[in-house]
Amino acid sequence: MIRKYIFGKPFETEAIVKKVEPEQGMPTYGQISLEEGFSYTYPLAEDDIVYGLGEANRGLNKRGYCYISDCSDDPNHTEDKRSLYGAHNLVVIAGEQNVGLFFDYPAKMIFDIGYTKQDIMKVSCEEANLNLYVIEGENAYDIVKQFRGLIGRSYIPPKFAFGLGQSRWGYKTREDFENVAKGYRENRIPLDMIYMDIDYMQDYKDFTVNEEEFSDFPEFVQGMKDQGIRLVPIIDAGVKIEDGYSVYEEGVKNNYFCKREDGSDFAAAVWPGYTHFPDVLNPDARRWFGDHYRYLIDQGIEGFWNDMNEPAIFYSREGMADLKDTLQEYSASEADVPVWSLGDQVGALANNPEDYKRFYHQVNGEKIRHDKVHNLYGYNMTRAAGEAFERIDPDRRFLMFSRSSYVGMHRYGGIWTGDNKSWWSHLLLNLKMMPSLNMCGFLYIGADLGGFGADATRDLVLRWLALGVFTPLMRNHSAIGTREQEPYQFERIEDFKGIIETRYRLIPYLYSEYMKAALSDDMYFKPLAFVYPDDSFAVRVEDQMMLGNEIMIAPVYTQNARGRYVYLPEKMKLVKFGKGGAYTEEVLEKGHHYVEVALDEVPLFIREGRCIPVAKAAQCVEKIDTMQLELLGFEGAQYILYEDDGVHKNYDEQGNYKKLHYE
Ligand code: NOJ
Repeated sequence: MIRKYIFGKPFETEAIVKKVEPEQGMPTYGQISLEEGFSYTYPLAEDDIVYGLGEANRGLNKRGYCYISDCSDDPNHTEDKRSLYGAHNLVVIAGEQNVGLFFDYPAKMIFDIGYTKQDIMKVSCEEANLNLYVIEGENAYDIVKQFRGLIGRSYIPPKFAFGLGQSRWGYKTREDFENVAKGYRENRIPLDMIYMDIDYMQDYKDFTVNEEEFSDFPEFVQGMKDQGIRLVPIIDAGVKIEDGYSVYEEGVKNNYFCKREDGSDFAAAVWPGYTHFPDVLNPDARRWFGDHYRYLIDQGIEGFWNDMNEPAIFYSREGMADLKDTLQEYSASEADVPVWSLGDQVGALANNPEDYKRFYHQVNGEKIRHDKVHNLYGYNMTRAAGEAFERIDPDRRFLMFSRSSYVGMHRYGGIWTGDNKSWWSHLLLNLKMMPSLNMCGFLYIGADLGGFGADATRDLVLRWLALGVFTPLMRNHSAIGTREQEPYQFERIEDFKGIIETRYRLIPYLYSEYMKAALSDDMYFKPLAFVYPDDSFAVRVEDQMMLGNEIMIAPVYTQNARGRYVYLPEKMKLVKFGKGGAYTEEVLEKGHHYVEVALDEVPLFIREGRCIPVAKAAQCVEKIDTMQLELLGFEGAQYILYEDDGVHKNYDEQGNYKKLHYE
């Protein structure tokens, strides 16, 4: 049962696709105050668990901390951080009373979930202009499924996107990319994508390619494809200000960029220097920006990643002018320079909330200050691309994922979780975030495996890849200046190869479960609590999860560990995949177990009475032989395999389902 309450004059975010007639009066759950902005207070019972918030810090149960929906370009995801790149305003309270709340509000929103007072959840924002959806259901899982029905079908990528991707900020020359392909292919390690970070562009200009390095780009793209590898370029939000650059000139001429109050185009510095932000909230500008993806599609590109779309600002002209004034004052004076406050002023240049008040969007004839709709920018940049793909080739699927997002964007693309670090704690954060993202509609998700910032170690990369085997987006990505972390940079490459081959062996199952989840508004990763709600151990487990309907995963996330403790809520078959196609099997009873897992192994647990299909490893997704599947699990079990051509959108055909029997 979903009820909608309207407060004030909400901005229509288009997060929701189903029409819900609004109620009169106030919701029966919680207390609303409209005295100072908006606040919603809900008393938490001692055993209540609070799920949701998608891309947010800390655990699966969000209780005990304060989170802020305020899309932020912050590369330091330490435990104290309250905002990451996304804004996913769904919370689901699970306990004696089960209720889901979606606060459809596009600006900064605070979720104090038992932080100020341990038994009070308080959700607040500055302006009482929002739509609130209150969802009643039998349990948290039921509420999530209703919510997913409300927000519409999740994005479905092409099948090649389930292969491994290799990325690094710093690949620049044609030779750099060819060396990556060689590193993989010479070692016979499967690979489907190489990502192109900002250096493929001409001076960091969107929809350009560095002509000197890539004199015949289509030929280069095709050459990679001949090896089973797709190139996936990045697109940034900011459009470089440069005379003669057609994207810039068209944007200025047609008023497609965000403007200052006085009508001039707002300028913010990002990688290319000063840029303008396309006004992707304005349908005409969105269409225009989206159509530019065609430039790369026409050259053979089939996927993109959208970055810096919070939007990230290194500094604005105004911020820089203020800093210069301060510096001038100091240089003109004999007094000591207050180094700390100067440092703070320099630090505050980037992503400064004041800058977000300096520019405006044009939406249906209305001028809207950016900070009031801040959390919708990444969503609409990705929507620009998604809508353009529909125009360019309506039957084809394109790979698309974004850094910043809001609920609604899940229909147009996936997300990667941004600039994590090569830390064990971030491996665990990756694991815990996945089910929360699924609750909010984001199914095509993954983190930078091995960690983006800081230097990775061999064991960390192996363990992280062993988790990445299960995330729909499996990509190894790292920052310029950090230790290189492609598998072939380390000793005993065969250990990496074995783990990645396991991914490819599991793709028939992973893809099938992804598609079933997407097509029925279900989750791909579920907390154990959603499957075993009456098991008091299972409901509190945060470092294991259910993947699809057949298996549970329990990755190792601790340095030097030889294995880990695992809780089995029912009898299961432990399968450990090793190198060269080898695996071991063991049936374990319900209860607590210590499971040994070597660095080159990938464990998974098949539920009693179930089985999963496993293929032979292949060098890329297209080469997986889905006619030769082996079944692992319990005798007598059946598995319904979903399969399609992985390219087109004929999802709903009967023939896509095949019944497999384990005899
Ligand atoms: C920030 C992104 O989060 C990161 O993945 C990328 O490598 C850099 N921008 C450079 O484009």
